[in-house]
Amino acid sequence: MANAIRFFQLNTEAKIPSVGLGTWQSAPGVVSDAVIAAVKVGYRHIDCAAVYGNEKEVGSALKKLFDDGVVKREELWITSKLWCTEHALEDVPVALNRTLQDLQLDYVDLYLIHWPASMKKGSVGFKPENLTHPDIPSTWRAMEALFDSGKARAIGVSNFSTEKLEDLLAVARVTPAVNQVEIHPVWQQPKLHEYCKSKGIHLTGYSPLGSPGTGTVKTQVLKNPVLTTVAEKLGKTPAQVAVRWGLQMGHSVLPKSTNKARIKENFDVFDWSIPEDLFAKFTEIEQMRLIRGSGFVDETYGVYRTVEELWDGEL
Ligand code: A2P
Repeated sequence: MANAIRFFQLNTEAKIPSVGLGTWQSAPGVVSDAVIAAVKVGYRHIDCAAVYGNEKEVGSALKKLFDDGVVKREELWITSKLWCTEHALEDVPVALNRTLQDLQLDYVDLYLIHWPASMKKGSVGFKPENLTHPDIPSTWRAMEALFDSGKARAIGVSNFSTEKLEDLLAVARVTPAVNQVEIHPVWQQPKLHEYCKSKGIHLTGYSPLGSPGTGTVKTQVLKNPVLTTVAEKLGKTPAQVAVRWGLQMGHSVLPKSTNKARIKENFDVFDWSIPEDLFAKFTEIEQMRLIRGSGFVDETYGVYRTVEELWDGEL
């Protein structure tokens, strides 16, 4: 019997459910149904963010699930993220309050700094002139206060390189519980993986299927020959193999879908495993970062003048 890998334990002692529903690029009109379908097939983890523009609809779905007695609040894991326009010390609690109001919740299980980049308060979109200099130590102090208040039961970061995590650990009173980054078989991040492991920081992988619906992404992770061969051998789909690979690496994984059949498919990953000989083949895959964050980079206005600087060379 395969090790199911349903949860991972964080440095807060909380258990994060290993597969969460991603909601980035889920249109407001369909995200409610997706959340309801996911919870009904067994998902207990929903990954949200203010900037996704759909937290109100996620909130309506959660309310319906609670009212209908499908699930209790304490059985769900809800993550949200602080957007780059709200990094100022005084704006952080306001941003979380708005998210809580939209999600119709009293607390989130995890609140993350979405990017190590900041933008002018109130600005919308990725115009270079909106970029400002981030002050992560100060933003982190505000995150720590939210942790102390209990409104965020765990705090962490997203899109942080090894170097940026190191800088944060040098000033943090509360060690981040999670770093949520792009991870899938085509972008495995071994250096970051080892560093996080050594510091007790859990890695969550976004875009675990390689975000096939994202226009800027040209590499098709689900068509990678290692994935398709392993999938064929195991009688699974490439998407299931990609999710299961993440679990066996020790990452929680956030496949996004608004399609009921694919939501179910992506969760059918607990009663089988990738055997060791096939798992070893993943190390042969050529690596490429797909979500490059170029919107946070600008030669004139940006604190990061190149994509290399944003990721501290981890490209
Ligand atoms: P859809 O929402 O129509 O299912 P990622 O989580 O890596 O960002 O990938 C999300 C993208 O992958 C979405 O375009 C989603 O489309 C698609 N997707 C989700 N599940 C599967 C699957 N099982 N097989 C193929 N594509 C999928």
